Amino acid sequence: VNGPSPPAVVGSGRVRALGTAFEYPEGRAFLVSSPGVMDLHGAAIRSALSFRSFVEILVDDREIAKTLRGVEGILEAAIASEVRRDDFVVAFGGGVVSDMAGFAASVLLRGIRWYGVPTTLLAMADAAIGGKTGVDHPAAKNQIGTFHFPSGVLVDPDFLETLPERAYRSGLAEIYKALLVGDAEGAEEMRGRLEELARLRGARRALLRAIAVKERIVREDPFESDRRRVLNFGHTLGHALETAGAYRDLAHGEAVALGMAAALLLSSERSGYPEPDARAQAAELSRFARAGRAPELCPSRDAIRAALRRDKKNTAGRAPAVLLSRPGAPVIADISDEEWLDAAERILLPTGL
Ligand SMILES: NC(=O)c1ccc[n+]([C@@H]2O[C@H](COP(=O)([O-])OP(=O)(O)OC[C@H]3O[C@@H](n4cnc5c(N)ncnc54)[C@H](O)[C@@H]3O)[C@@H](O)[C@H]2O)c1
Ligand SMILES: [Zn+2]
Repeated sequence: VNGPSPPAVVGSGRVRALGTAFEYPEGRAFLVSSPGVMDLHGAAIRSALSFRSFVEILVDDREIAKTLRGVEGILEAAIASEVRRDDFVVAFGGGVVSDMAGFAASVLLRGIRWYGVPTTLLAMADAAIGGKTGVDHPAAKNQIGTFHFPSGVLVDPDFLETLPERAYRSGLAEIYKALLVGDAEGAEEMRGRLEELARLRGARRALLRAIAVKERIVREDPFESDRRRVLNFGHTLGHALETAGAYRDLAHGEAVALGMAAALLLSSERSGYPEPDARAQAAELSRFARAGRAPELCPSRDAIRAALRRDKKNTAGRAPAVLLSRPGAPVIADISDEEWLDAAERILLPTGL
């Protein structure tokens, strides 16, 4: 659909009501998932989809496989099954699956409907919501894609029971991001409790609030001409740290947590965010992102600088940064690479905060 989706349907066990949660076109479902997710939760989704005949398409859901070739596999399988305009896609998995399945749906027959049933915390809070689809290219992450809004998103937190710890933490970081830019009260509830929420797997309340923030901001600016950019809070430096390579396996949410820590320090210098709060929250985020990891994993200043430059080139030199003047109040600022690097150094060095 080429406009914002209806609000996500959320609830434990709700996947069983998938058939009545939304309206569907008349045709078949193409269930797109990965072997790993189907091993864990295949029985639940197959039974939920029994209201309609469906075709299963499995993809490799590692980030390195989120490519045009991966999408081609989905297209080939759909075409081999003689896909028709009244068929639809159901994306069942994490953000890699929903990005690829949504993209495939947007180009099959110039666009058939799709529905999201996310199974990771990050996909529930972020990736499956908001209609951005796409794949990575070796030269640039997320540079090939479409806006193609799902006709329905069903969030069943029961799927999280099997989620590995680091994936859960990564999702928590994105949730905190949404609340910091769009829900001051929700952010205050999470503050100082990231470790505790990860340990107790207690993010359900925060997840609901994060979904509401994302849905509201996407409704205001579906195609990211302006307001939607605030959801990139923490992503300028986060992205650069991810691509700088020194943390070879830095999870996306861990990189974003470090990026938010740096953005908070800059917010206190440049946009009036209260200084002691910025420092305390940056310290918490930095600790949370690096729990159990050796400090010598710090990427070099040169590697981070090169990654910042590369990202900027991809956006024609315009990479306005998102800062906060206080929780829930994002502002757009012009931050130089050197400023980002100084902030990165402060959050990455053990003595910097
Ligand atoms: N389109 C958007 O707006 C948007 C927003 C944020 C992120 N993204 C994209 O999302 C991707 C990251 O998504 P992600 O964090 O969900 O990671 P992911 O899709 O890579 O999933 C992480 C791992 O968890 C496994 N998994 C999935 N569900 C599970 C479950 N219930 N139990 C056990 N294991 C499970 C997957 O098989 C995978 O190995 C990135 O590619 C990112 O670019 C997109
Ligand atoms: Zn993100």
